[in-house]
Amino acid sequence: MTARRFLVTGGAGYLGAHVALDLLVAGHDVVVVDDFSTGHLQACRRVEELAGRPCTVIRADIADSERMRVALDGVDAVLHFAASKLVPESMDAPERYFHNNVGGMTALLASMQAAGVRRIVYSSSAAVYGQQPAGLIPETAPLAPTSPYGLTKVHGEQMLGWMAERRGWSAVSLRYFNPVGAHASGRIGQPPGDAASLVPRVLQAVANPPAHIEVFGTDYPTEDGTCLRDYIHVSDLSRAHVVALGALDAPGHRVFNVGTGRAHSVREVLKACERVTGRRVPYVDAPRRAGDIPVAVADPAHFRQALGFEASRSLDDMVASAWRWTSEHPRGYA
Ligand SMILES: NC(=O)c1ccc[n+]([C@@H]2O[C@H](COP(=O)([O-])OP(=O)(O)OC[C@H]3O[C@@H](n4cnc5c(N)ncnc54)[C@H](O)[C@@H]3O)[C@@H](O)[C@H]2O)c1
Repeated sequence: MTARRFLVTGGAGYLGAHVALDLLVAGHDVVVVDDFSTGHLQACRRVEELAGRPCTVIRADIADSERMRVALDGVDAVLHFAASKLVPESMDAPERYFHNNVGGMTALLASMQAAGVRRIVYSSSAAVYGQQPAGLIPETAPLAPTSPYGLTKVHGEQMLGWMAERRGWSAVSLRYFNPVGAHASGRIGQPPGDAASLVPRVLQAVANPPAHIEVFGTDYPTEDGTCLRDYIHVSDLSRAHVVALGALDAPGHRVFNVGTGRAHSVREVLKACERVTGRRVPYVDAPRRAGDIPVAVADPAHFRQALGFEASRSLDDMVASAWRWTSEHPRGYA
């Protein structure tokens, strides 16, 4: 890809920072728009340090059309990460999620259309699927979100479908399964306050005795009774975006799962954490948590066949990079 200018919304967050770094390293210009509601300016500074090049950082809400007009100037495509992402929080305050994820994205699309920027890669989620029958989940599975958060991701995808259809946009929605891990440098990663997902919670507990974690549900219909998930290394996920950008030439909306197709149980993740850290993981078994789905594993075939994307890193690679980040940054970017 020849050097281009990309706008990364939410580029101060966990995933956006990794992608911004990879784009800078590949020689592209990067504009980050972030309101720092959950993101960190320090993440952007480290991205610049690691890339050895600056990016433009604009503190703004994606709904601020004046600021977005400036941010979109000369931009070739948008990578849209900015959103609220916590499922339980969305259960408690759905209207906040509708406002930020659907309202914010609606405003972003209007700003893009006004600026003549018609290419976008969108952070969707496996949360669009909800509970599915056993087996790998293909992109053609019916969408049945079980949370307001998941519903906002369905809306986002559908809006892009219409922008492609009616405005000739070129859009890719990437449905991430469970992103885990940190950059190989150990300098950017998932801050501890952000740790709603399993691996960061486990590593926080390992690093902070006598803390422990709870294993929610040990009587699921799986081999060891715990939930199965598809974990993907954040660096593989970042590469998925570079691949997706290469597919933004023709108009249309394309949807891809971003996962490995490999299932890991909660107990397997705990074992991987013990292998990598050399420490015992302090946990207790607990009852099932409302809303948890027993199995959620991607069928990665469509992304592989259409664009040649394949994740290469193992669960131990993911845990090892997350452990390096956690032990070197006990307080995240603080
Ligand atoms: N991390 C995951 O497990 C996961 C899984 C599936 C999908 N996703 C999606 O990927 C995207 C990025 O997730 P993440 O883990 O990096 O989250 P994050 O919270 O670390 O990053 C989101 C970033 O967006 C910014 N932001 C939020 N609302 C904004 C607004 N209105 N205007 C400007 N900036 C705003 C935040 O400050 C933050 O820097 C989100 O869309 C999320 O829904 C994440």
